[in-house]
Amino acid sequence: MVAPSPAPTVAPPCLSGVDHLEWWVGNARTFAGFLSAAVGFTPVAYAGPETGRRDRVSYLLRQGEVRLLISGALDPESPIAEHVRLHGDGVRDVAFGVDDVDAAHAAALARGARSLRDPADDTDEHGTIRHAAVTTYGDTVHTLLDRRRYAGPFAPGFVPTDLHAAPGPEVGLRRIDHVVGNVEKGTLGQWVAFYEDVFGFEQMTHFDDDQISTEFSALMSTVVWDGHRVVMPLNEPADGRRKSQIEEYLDFYRSPGVQHIALSTADIVDTVRALRERGVRCMTVPPDYYLGARERMADLDLPWAELERLGILVDRDEHGHLLQIFTETVTDRPTVFFEIIQREGARGFGEGNFKALFEAIERAQAERGNL
Ligand code: FE2
Repeated sequence: MVAPSPAPTVAPPCLSGVDHLEWWVGNARTFAGFLSAAVGFTPVAYAGPETGRRDRVSYLLRQGEVRLLISGALDPESPIAEHVRLHGDGVRDVAFGVDDVDAAHAAALARGARSLRDPADDTDEHGTIRHAAVTTYGDTVHTLLDRRRYAGPFAPGFVPTDLHAAPGPEVGLRRIDHVVGNVEKGTLGQWVAFYEDVFGFEQMTHFDDDQISTEFSALMSTVVWDGHRVVMPLNEPADGRRKSQIEEYLDFYRSPGVQHIALSTADIVDTVRALRERGVRCMTVPPDYYLGARERMADLDLPWAELERLGILVDRDEHGHLLQIFTETVTDRPTVFFEIIQREGARGFGEGNFKALFEAIERAQAERGNL
């Protein structure tokens, strides 16, 4: 679990960003196919028995700067099989790029992290990747890796894949905006302290349950980040009249874990049009939402009819506005989903939409006499 906060005397690991996210799933080929056909990712590299891996297969998919690694087990003793049995499909690893793996790993341990893998080299004819790993919330881990001495398609043991990109309109996702974790009730403070202590992260912002709640569902959220590119909001369930969506996640995932991955685009209307055409299903928005949103954002020149048709949400803060949409969960269990986000100056996370959405639902309920 989380170590008590020591006064860290060692400088925190220096992260260059999120290198990739690794999913552990029940059927890697099928999930990779879904990400290609529906979400517009390009299969880039493959590792499996043909490349000397005996216990697992992995597909590396890419879109813009986003790398998703999809891995599945080849035998029931594989830790992937056990992870899938317990959690269902989910994100195992939020892998960070670092310049000095040994120093980053040693610093993380000195500052209270638990090691999962000590530093080691993987080498093939394309070069060397040095990597190590530490644990975080639930069964989630952070690999720390340095790929600057590697020129192959992804990592040693991987070859270019013959799994082809599915045809379809260009989706245009560019990079990972943030990766959100759900943690158990009463532990938000501990996990914020973990990221502050171990990685030297700072709190960017905090939302109390009275800011993101309605009568029905509530959560508390603290956004921690490295001050540059790694942004990791953490959610904890709070009491509402009904079960919090965070509690539902924890019940089904059976532990803390990654809830959603926000991917940025420069043109969310084009992106969402392409995703919908490719068959991605998104959370539906009650028409009432747009009555309120148009009022709140009356001074912005936005394609409201198109936003409403596609179900895109809008929020603003003192720095600007943002447009966002959430997919339905992409896992069998109601756990993990994607967010698509276009930032126009705004630094928030759409917290205004949480309340607006639920109020719109409640307005409609009230109209039906059911509230
Ligand atoms: Fe988000």
